[in-house]
Amino acid sequence: MSDPIVMMKQEVGKAAAARVKSDSIVGLGTGSTTAYAIQYIGERLQSGELKNIVGVTTSFQAEVLARKYNIPLSTLDVVDRIDIAIDGADEVDPQKNLIKGGGAAHTQEKIVDSLAEQFIVVVDGGKLVDKLGSTFLLPVEVIPKAVVPVMRKLEQLGGKPELRMGVKKAGPVVTDQGNLVIDVKFDSIDDPATLEKTINNIPGVLENGLFVGVTDVVLVGEIIDNKPVVREI
Ligand code: 5RP
Repeated sequence: MSDPIVMMKQEVGKAAAARVKSDSIVGLGTGSTTAYAIQYIGERLQSGELKNIVGVTTSFQAEVLARKYNIPLSTLDVVDRIDIAIDGADEVDPQKNLIKGGGAAHTQEKIVDSLAEQFIVVVDGGKLVDKLGSTFLLPVEVIPKAVVPVMRKLEQLGGKPELRMGVKKAGPVVTDQGNLVIDVKFDSIDDPATLEKTINNIPGVLENGLFVGVTDVVLVGEIIDNKPVVREI
């Protein structure tokens, strides 16, 4: 059997891509699950099943994939709406609030996803949590000069901050905007809406990975009887 996580991601990506209608402007998220949605949107365009789609990307990764699968692209300067956005998440709570930013793309993701008429989140079952912050650190994008004072403020808020370091790259992760990411461990995020605003109010913070009240639909990939199935929340 292939890797069950990969199977869940593929199935959920396909289910989200199937919800895209012709003549629409589509927000294209970031991450390994959304990558399958982008692939399937491209395949539906190629087969003629889908017509007249324009993508608006949330990262350099999404842009590269969209070009690979021949999805025409535009930007927020040009389009007047986003009909549907598809994006992954690192944690999803029962109110459909999210932690995002595992790929350091949460700033552009929040802009595009929150503009969408319908925002669909694609995850595997392991991302569902009772409370945000249970399994994943909260990513905060910070202007490089402000890293030290922002870390101090995050500690005062009860967090344990660490600068995200690159893999196969010496030094810290640099975002698509040229900033750095601080990952913060909070023992418990009881009020995500307040924490989202409080962190964004620290001078030097560009955006944090709490997405509160943005999600319309969550598609969850699960393996049942050795087969991948998709459940909608
Ligand atoms: C990137 C994100 C991703 O959507 C999130 O990390 C989920 O990624 P994956 O589908 O690879 O698990 O927020 O900033």
